[in-house]
Amino acid sequence: MPALLLRLLLSLLLVAAAPLAAARSRQFRGYSYLLDCGAAASTIDRRGLIWLPDGRYVSAGVSSELPEQGLLDPALATLRIFPRRPAAKFCYELPVDRNRRYLLRPTFFYGAYSPDSPPPVFDMIVDGTFWTAVNTTDDSLAGSASYYEGVFGASGRNMSFCLGVNPDYTDSDPFINALQVIQLHDSVYNATNFTSSAMGLIARTKFGSAGDAEKYPDDIFDRYWQPFLDSKHAVSSTHNVTSADFWNFPPPGVFNTALVAEQESPLVLQWPPVPLQNDSYYVALYFADTSPENSRTFNVYINDYRFYDGLTVTSAGLSVFATQWILSGLTRLILTPVSGLPPLINAGEVFGLFPRGGYTVPRDARALESIKRSLQNIPDDWNGDPCMPHGYAWTGVTCDDSSIANVISLNFSSMGLSGYLSSDIANMTSLTDISFANNNLSGPIPNLSKLRSLQRLHLQDNKLNGTVPQTLGTITTLHELF
Ligand SMILES: *[C@@H]1O[C@H](CO)[C@@H](O)[C@H](O)[C@H]1NC(C)=O
Ligand SMILES: *[C@@H]1O[C@H](CO)[C@@H](O)[C@H](O)[C@H]1NC(C)=O
Ligand SMILES: *[C@@H]1O[C@H](CO)[C@@H](O)[C@H](O)[C@H]1NC(C)=O
Ligand SMILES: *[C@@H]1O[C@H](CO)[C@@H](O)[C@H](O)[C@H]1NC(C)=O
Ligand SMILES: *[C@@H]1O[C@H](CO)[C@@H](O)[C@H](O)[C@H]1NC(C)=O
Ligand SMILES: *[C@@H]1O[C@H](CO)[C@@H](O)[C@H](O)[C@H]1NC(C)=O
Ligand SMILES: *[C@@H]1O[C@H](CO)[C@@H](O)[C@H](O)[C@H]1NC(C)=O
Ligand SMILES: *[C@@H]1O[C@H](CO)[C@@H](O)[C@H](O)[C@H]1NC(C)=O
Ligand SMILES: *[C@@H]1O[C@H](CO)[C@@H](O)[C@H](O)[C@H]1NC(C)=O
Ligand SMILES: *[C@@H]1O[C@H](CO)[C@@H](O)[C@H](O)[C@H]1NC(C)=O
Ligand SMILES: *[C@@H]1O[C@H](CO)[C@@H](O)[C@H](O)[C@H]1NC(C)=O
Repeated sequence: MPALLLRLLLSLLLVAAAPLAAARSRQFRGYSYLLDCGAAASTIDRRGLIWLPDGRYVSAGVSSELPEQGLLDPALATLRIFPRRPAAKFCYELPVDRNRRYLLRPTFFYGAYSPDSPPPVFDMIVDGTFWTAVNTTDDSLAGSASYYEGVFGASGRNMSFCLGVNPDYTDSDPFINALQVIQLHDSVYNATNFTSSAMGLIARTKFGSAGDAEKYPDDIFDRYWQPFLDSKHAVSSTHNVTSADFWNFPPPGVFNTALVAEQESPLVLQWPPVPLQNDSYYVALYFADTSPENSRTFNVYINDYRFYDGLTVTSAGLSVFATQWILSGLTRLILTPVSGLPPLINAGEVFGLFPRGGYTVPRDARALESIKRSLQNIPDDWNGDPCMPHGYAWTGVTCDDSSIANVISLNFSSMGLSGYLSSDIANMTSLTDISFANNNLSGPIPNLSKLRSLQRLHLQDNKLNGTVPQTLGTITTLHELF
């Protein structure tokens, strides 16, 4: 699947650390948290946001520290590095509220670029869905961090966020510096069906601004609105816009600057500033007039297609959006005057849409969780979806290739496992092969008679005791038993 990603730049400024005591800790609305990957303790940043150490949410990887000192964003100073192993995925298990939607913003900063060890390139995966590849090379050359942002619907009590080792890319260890998990209000981006799709940010823009990106606390979800300047057309004004009047809760500050057309002529912008691949996009545009006495009506075109006809903007503000707009290559946004003052625009967002991937049939996923709990010394990639995406199954697990995948084989031979064999293994009724050979398992062999397709069962070289269950004799397909 083509990557619908966006890399935006976070500038890496060196500043003196602000005294922490001066900062008050703050919280986002809803169930949200910020993880400082590889950190040993919580920190509070200059905006008063609390960053938690990530150890509770991830079992793989090791902590590391960058040699750079005095980073503007202290959350970048530590990172978690995962051991490279082809096709392994390393997952954070993120507690979420079921059926709510979440903005995930992972940030990557590998430190100063070195040609001897260019930054690793790897995949990102959310639950069973391939998101995009992470390539920080260009940002690293520029001395900047890279962040990605996606919006995903939660389907269970945990959402897994994983880094996947793709052997087609580089042969170094995946890493991550920070991960923001932010619950959005139910009306934000609600025209998208998050059961079938997810969104990856392309651009979020505050037009007519030369200043810093607009963030928390002005944006209650800490979305970053990047400045987009065209000095000829910029205006600023103070507004009384109320975020909550908009489904998407744009921050009030984005309405204080705008780009305005010349009298009698259209406003033409190349936006978003990057070429797009031919696909469907979510586009939202935000407008507010500069004063309550004004009146202006205009048409909105994207490339040569009419996006909105006869839009009358007031100082209270309004937004227009499309949920599945086809774009390709460079995009031109054109506002043509109809009546009153010339057209203006304050802010915009573009996201790529991509389909949610499949998942492991819940019967098998639950059984594997139970098997995992009954074992010790398990592989560090047994987290996230056991089968999906295809090519990223847990070590030792083989699945069929349907989109709601069944587990067909467990080969856990010689993994140094100890513990016992959970009787829930008998729930995985599509299994044809089971091997736990050459481990340190103890206890009895469970009743496997429900496994009507089982062909090979290898349990030799363990410390199992008791008798071989007679019920194995009822599995007619079984033809290899050690
Ligand atoms: C959900 O996430 C929490 C925190 O990461 C973890 O302790 C728990 O085991 C996870 N539950 C499942 C079913 O993965
Ligand atoms: C990563 O990006 C760099 C610079 O754009 C490019 O040269 C390189 O081929 C990319 N690596 C992969 C694996 O895509
Ligand atoms: C989105 O949220 C708004 C405000 O709560 C509501 O009026 C609208 O019907 C919702 N749209 C969808 C498609 O759920
Ligand atoms: C969203 O997508 C799912 C899966 O494709 C579908 O079952 C559901 O009906 C859709 N919901 C809406 C409101 O269209
Ligand atoms: C904003 O609201 C205040 C009080 O409600 C009012 O005095 C002021 O004129 C308003 N400003 C604008 C630009 O509408
Ligand atoms: C985009 O793809 C569609 C079908 O997938 C095709 O009909 C259309 O011509 C393509 N547009 C461009 C500009 O390539
Ligand atoms: C296995 O199946 C049994 C019977 O259907 C059920 O009671 C049990 O909860 C299942 N185990 C798991 C871990 O799902
Ligand atoms: C199981 O895995 C081991 C080690 O990876 C391999 O040697 C063996 O052939 C595999 N067994 C089966 C039945 O695939
Ligand atoms: C079983 O455990 C013992 C120590 O408890 C260890 O010496 C031995 O190597 C283990 N055997 C296997 C096959 O992992
Ligand atoms: C084994 O499991 C099957 C199916 O769940 C059940 O019918 C049978 O009674 C069990 N046998 C024993 C000995 O527990
Ligand atoms: C199997 O071993 C466990 C301890 O490891 C013991 O409690 C149990 O009684 C043994 N069962 C049999 C049938 O020997």
